[in-house]
Amino acid sequence: MPNPPPPRPSLVVAAAVVALLLAATLCHGGKTSLFVRKVEKTIDMPLDADVFAVPPGYNAPQQVHITQGDLLGEALIVSWVTVDEPGSSKVIYWKENSSQKKTAQGKASTYSYFNYTSGHIHHTTIRNLEHGTKYYYEVGIGHTVRQFWFVAPPEVGPDVPYTFGLIGDLGQSYDSNRTLAHYEMNPQKGQTVLFVGDLSYADNYPNHDNNRWDTWGRFVERSTAYQPWIWTAGNHELDFDPEIGETKPFKPFTHRYRTPFKASNSTAPLWYSIKRGPAHIIVLSSYSAYGKYTPQYKWLEAEFPKVNRAETPWLIVMMHSPWYNSYNYHYMEGESMRVMYETWFVQNKVDVVFAGHVHAYERSERVSNIAYNVVNGMCTPEIDQSAPVYITIGDGGNLEGLATNMTKPQPKYSAYREASFGHAIFDIKNRTHAYYSWHRNQDGYAVEADRHWFYNRYYNAAEEPSIV
Ligand SMILES: [Fe+2]
Repeated sequence: MPNPPPPRPSLVVAAAVVALLLAATLCHGGKTSLFVRKVEKTIDMPLDADVFAVPPGYNAPQQVHITQGDLLGEALIVSWVTVDEPGSSKVIYWKENSSQKKTAQGKASTYSYFNYTSGHIHHTTIRNLEHGTKYYYEVGIGHTVRQFWFVAPPEVGPDVPYTFGLIGDLGQSYDSNRTLAHYEMNPQKGQTVLFVGDLSYADNYPNHDNNRWDTWGRFVERSTAYQPWIWTAGNHELDFDPEIGETKPFKPFTHRYRTPFKASNSTAPLWYSIKRGPAHIIVLSSYSAYGKYTPQYKWLEAEFPKVNRAETPWLIVMMHSPWYNSYNYHYMEGESMRVMYETWFVQNKVDVVFAGHVHAYERSERVSNIAYNVVNGMCTPEIDQSAPVYITIGDGGNLEGLATNMTKPQPKYSAYREASFGHAIFDIKNRTHAYYSWHRNQDGYAVEADRHWFYNRYYNAAEEPSIV
């Protein structure tokens, strides 16, 4: 029998193109980065580091930070600390190019932790902000006045672009400072930080030296005073230490960092939701009870039906302990919460889940693992276009160092993983598309070490192309 004729070159090229396209669009990740970084110990900056400097002037406000103050972004909570005396809890604020100044009144309190007593911690809520408007504000009225500014978010709606920054497990090391600098210098300007927990790591010091909560507040002020950081509680916020008589979990964190939990009918500041621009953001607490009948469970059960994708197409969930984590650190710590809530996440087509805790970076495929019951043995994550992408962004750079040890082989659900410090940007373009990028600290500010086009799960639940 004669040999069949060789395929025509044009057919070969066409077949190769199709194969490449298929590989580009349908392959399921599984990349462990081979990026090699300089190995050096991650150490905290000393107390006399310039980023910890106390602002000059008698009773000068320090540790200024802002966060959303209501459900819709028309209010803002301004917080700061004064150390010499209580001073004033007033905030004076005005619109750019307006001479009409307004005043908001808040409250101050202190707390004690073992042998430490805090400064006067002020929280003042500014209300009735005009969307998309730049405001200036002043704190420290009476003695040393300090001035800052912020931009109120656009009105909640499906097609308003909005850019979120993502930072987790930051701490106060030299690497933490690099992460924050890279976030600030990233040309894709983040407008609000979604912070996935573990702030100061003060609890790594003897008796949880709360002076390290103060240094952290001063370190991050250069960002937190100018744009809202949305807070998630991590395990380093627990500060639970019965040996020194400290048995009230989250005491320093809840005194210092406020959340607008009542606006979303939550009964505790550790789990809540906000709407911001085109996003509905749900914040969960990995370290509060989440089993059936608990307050967090009941709240989340009531929360999902309130999500209106016609108004806020993007459904984002933040938590500290990741559900899908293929590092050999904190392995399976998020598993029990996953068992409780994953079905809801898939049913409600959550777009993305951001977590921290593991000090490295990982992005998952869209997977779910909700078929298991006690007899069927079906306990393998499977590709599911109704499931979220899970991103671990606990790579802020704290003193505990990088998580470098990974499970091998890389699980199929893991699309990309790399043990480097960095931050990420979630840039919502419209109701159907968001561009996500991860930026490692060793690179130039504009370099994207990982990227992904998100298709909105409600409006376009198609499989997203892999562009790694
Ligand atoms: Fe953690």
